[in-house]
Amino acid sequence: MRVLAIETSCDETAISIVECFGGINPPIGEPRFKILSNIIASQIKIHAKWGGVVPNLAKREHIKNLPIVLKKALRKTKMEDIDLIAVTVGPGLEPALWTGINFAEDLAKKSNKPLIGINHMEGHIVASLLNQKNKITFPAIALLVSGGHTEIVFIRKWLDYKIIGQTRDDAAGEAFDKVAKMLKLPYPGGPEISKMAEKFKIKNLKLKINLPRPMINSKDYDFSFSGLKTAVLYLIKDLQKTIPKFSDRKDLVSSICHEFQQAVIDVLIKKTICAAKEYKIKTLILGGGVSANTELRKQLAEAIKKELPNTLYLIPDIKYTTDNAVMIAIAACLRRQAYFHALKKPFDKLKVKSKKLKANGNLILK
Ligand code: KG4
Ligand code: ZN
Repeated sequence: MRVLAIETSCDETAISIVECFGGINPPIGEPRFKILSNIIASQIKIHAKWGGVVPNLAKREHIKNLPIVLKKALRKTKMEDIDLIAVTVGPGLEPALWTGINFAEDLAKKSNKPLIGINHMEGHIVASLLNQKNKITFPAIALLVSGGHTEIVFIRKWLDYKIIGQTRDDAAGEAFDKVAKMLKLPYPGGPEISKMAEKFKIKNLKLKINLPRPMINSKDYDFSFSGLKTAVLYLIKDLQKTIPKFSDRKDLVSSICHEFQQAVIDVLIKKTICAAKEYKIKTLILGGGVSANTELRKQLAEAIKKELPNTLYLIPDIKYTTDNAVMIAIAACLRRQAYFHALKKPFDKLKVKSKKLKANGNLILK
């Protein structure tokens, strides 16, 4: 099955074509994927000037980019050879989501192909299947950390999701971006904070910085990052009283980045390991833009090795951590295979009607 997927939920216009072999497990067998194309037109430079994503600018850029990105994606594959078109329907910025949906509907109509709507967060869960050689066993949980979401999802089996914890205010990526802005680092802030944190040298430290670990001991799987962000703001204000050109002091900036990053990681790991133990999971998945963070990837791996040594740990390749359409194509493959499996028909023997799709900025994973 060849899927052409379209992703426009935020500031990346992405189209990908993925060939899917095998099936979902259980009961069909392990899925395998071959990426035929993966095109991403990033709008980062445009939004960077504003320090964050401007929805109407994102919409304008998606409309402009979509035909160009499609042409590039179809360079080696003909539209006739596509079996299914998939598009992100939420969560995300509604004006941006609608551009993808309208474009996908038009393409599906012109090419007479079925169209399926996909939840962006499901895409982040399945992105780690690409490089997966091991058999995935259930139950599983996914820690999803992106610019808009921070959630722990319990997965009883493929396509059966339940959110067991989430942020009560800012998402982890959003906190990274806002703290970076306070420190006058460029947008998006996550990779910048991570780079600055790497430069942190304990021997250079003249001032010990301590930030809170919000909700680390609460008896639930929820998060809160807004207080941590405010703590950084007050810390900066305090430092500015004695050091006016504080943001030029790379030693101080890097130590704040290091402590902030570690505070986020500590809370994410503590809650995820607790959830993993309570739900007796066999597989732990990390996904979303913040999963590009090297320290988070490494420290979660160490925690799993120490506390849950028999658990399979899945992380996407760095390339597929941030928004892309490959992950949307994979989610569509799994959904379509499950559908045909339920009807006990091979996918090429059944014509399915496409439903009218609607963008939902707050779409919940279930
Ligand atoms: O999944 P994603 O591309 O978009 C959303 O669905 O929101 O995630 C983007 C988020 C941004 O907040 C960005 O700062 C963060 O992921 N991010 C990182 C890193 N790379 C991207 N955060 C921490 N460390 C990184 N290396
Ligand atoms: Zn995302």
